[in-house]
Amino acid sequence: MSNPTRLPAMMLAIALMLVSFPSAFAQHRLHNAEEEKIKSYPWMNPKLSPDERAEMVLKELTLDEKVDLVHGNGMPGWGKPRPNAYLGNGGAGFVLGVPRLGIPIIQMSDAAYGVRSSAENGRYSTALPSNLGSAASWDPQAACEYGALIGRELRAQGYNMTLGGGVNITREPRNGRTFEYMGEDPILAGTLVGNRIKCEQAQHVIGDIKHYAVNDQESGRNEVDSIIGKRALRETDLLAFEIGVGIGNPGAVMCSYNAVNGDFACENKYLLSDVLKNEWKFKGFVVSDWGGTHSTVKASAAGLDNEEPMDEFFGDKLKQAVQAGQVPMAELDDHARRILRAEFASGIVDDPTQKSVVDVEGGFDTARRLEEHSIVLLKNANNVLPLDRAKVRSIAIIGSHADSGMLSGGGSAQVDPPGPVHHWQEHVWFPTSPLKAVAAKAPGAKVQFDSGADPASAAALAKKSDIVLLFVHQWQSEGMDLTSLSLPDNQDALVEQVAAANPRTIVVLQTGTAVTMPWVDKVAGVLEAWYPGSKGADAVANILFGDVNPSAKLPMTFPRSVDDLPHPKLVTPPPGAQGRMAVMRSGEAKPTFSVNYDEGLKVGYKWYDAENKSVLFPFGYGLSYTSYGYSGLKVMPGNGATVSFEVKNTGSRAGAEIAQVYASLPASAGEPPKRLVGWSKVELKPGESKQVELSIDPKYLSIFDETSNSWKLTPGTYGFMVGGSSQNLPLSKKLDLK
Ligand code: BGC
Repeated sequence: MSNPTRLPAMMLAIALMLVSFPSAFAQHRLHNAEEEKIKSYPWMNPKLSPDERAEMVLKELTLDEKVDLVHGNGMPGWGKPRPNAYLGNGGAGFVLGVPRLGIPIIQMSDAAYGVRSSAENGRYSTALPSNLGSAASWDPQAACEYGALIGRELRAQGYNMTLGGGVNITREPRNGRTFEYMGEDPILAGTLVGNRIKCEQAQHVIGDIKHYAVNDQESGRNEVDSIIGKRALRETDLLAFEIGVGIGNPGAVMCSYNAVNGDFACENKYLLSDVLKNEWKFKGFVVSDWGGTHSTVKASAAGLDNEEPMDEFFGDKLKQAVQAGQVPMAELDDHARRILRAEFASGIVDDPTQKSVVDVEGGFDTARRLEEHSIVLLKNANNVLPLDRAKVRSIAIIGSHADSGMLSGGGSAQVDPPGPVHHWQEHVWFPTSPLKAVAAKAPGAKVQFDSGADPASAAALAKKSDIVLLFVHQWQSEGMDLTSLSLPDNQDALVEQVAAANPRTIVVLQTGTAVTMPWVDKVAGVLEAWYPGSKGADAVANILFGDVNPSAKLPMTFPRSVDDLPHPKLVTPPPGAQGRMAVMRSGEAKPTFSVNYDEGLKVGYKWYDAENKSVLFPFGYGLSYTSYGYSGLKVMPGNGATVSFEVKNTGSRAGAEIAQVYASLPASAGEPPKRLVGWSKVELKPGESKQVELSIDPKYLSIFDETSNSWKLTPGTYGFMVGGSSQNLPLSKKLDLK
């Protein structure tokens, strides 16, 4: 309640604010009469197309209003706040609306695996499994639920635009943001991110796909030049975006910090105009990554539509460039039109956000269910799992925080658990307790905890227990890469000692990317839980005790060693590199070093296949508590090809098998040995068989021909291989295509 003696002073303060910022204040205070007038404007008719509506509004805009649409107004914690900072919603930034015409402010928030910055805004968000974890479901429907939850929680918190889904291909598994992306295969990653975006936007928020493109490492991300051949670019990194944009139709594409083949991504005409806008017919707007804009005239001409989070290049400098004729008005109009169109198309004009309370219980339920679809069972020697709660008498829970929580990924993706504000790059553990979840499953068993800080004490507990559940972790964050794929903090030694004390040890991994496992032959079981989200421990317990049969499969290869990677040594900025701030601000910035992706088409499993390198766990791999058989492969030509086969549950539990189809192209195509071209998640009762029929998109069988700048089918013999992982393909057939 306000104190009455302070009221006159407050009123004076409000009056002063109105005098100082009349137009800004008008942004969110409209009188009823004005609201009625706005409703009567022709562009407020939802029956018209977003293009028509955007065009009408564009015609009404002044030059200043157009410029206001194409830049941000700061982000809390990013430099000195601007006078209009109070209009922000506490997110990553905002774009002014045009209140007199009924165009709302765009309030943006990061939302990789849930809505960011809840703690500092006194709000709450659900943490879903990491994006990479969600890709392990291979399930477009699960991706849809993922996006819908984030869309709902964004709106509940007053946001109408998301920043994320990320879909940078895992070329470099040490990339600190691997957990934010969807793995190493462009067709799988693009399909899943597209479904996430489609369902997120259905909640009436502007969707976004990022970071376009080839932002495949964090080391020197603001000044690195990613060098890659055009064909490889189109068939790998860009194909994921192409598919994601095609399915999800996002309102926005975020261009990345790095340069690609010499030009920074946010002023790269090939990426932004030639490919994205002209070839793919993308109708939304390109938003720069935060501080990723480097120029006015060049960036505008290349196709950047909106600078974030400030107006260094797209504020006064852009206005002056338009007035001086250096940037044609038609170009500024195109930027503004695209932003307006995205606002109409997403529904944020017709259905403005209204703050509400996030559905906490519903979020828990979704987070748990999606994690159950994401956990990959990597090893299960002698069917040690599922645990039999009637038989197990004692369980040791070992590992850092395993009594209290599970790990999450950091940086701008970070979702806050209940409690105080966490700082950038803190290790954040969600209060989902493996100890409690396991104890609840086995009330008759003695369940004891050891943090593992002293391996000898952990081994002593392991020795006297029937079963050991050993929780290990590898933390990742934006802004840094991993130096290796080994578990940090001597955890390999901990696993060795615990497993030596009790071979009935099951390792539960909480990782953002692949890890090496020098101890893998000494433990009985391995479960990859990723960063498991708000209800991770319950999902893990459901899998461990067999209440849920695991179905997920790896969306990336787990190599044996970093020596097997295309670039065993991570490429880092040379001494004397300019540094982030210099590159972001100069206006004359040039990349200072490069990563040459000379492995080209050979990303992930395609590299290990082509180079004949054995791996620890292959792409597409994951075990179940039941078993599956494949038979009856038929391959027919058509538009692309049609592949049909039968999958049978040959075991005694109900389960879901992710059946995968790979194709090898004719030798003259010069491709790696095989590529994923389709899959289906098939639910089967014990003994049940189902017929699967998949039409394979002709593009997925094609190569990108640089000479004609188009996708082409290579005439010749194609091989089609079907099975449960990229290295277990019992069925195969050949087909000639012309
Ligand atoms: C990240 C983006 C993020 C933006 C806003 C940047 O540092 O690269 O992914 O959306 O910040 O927080």
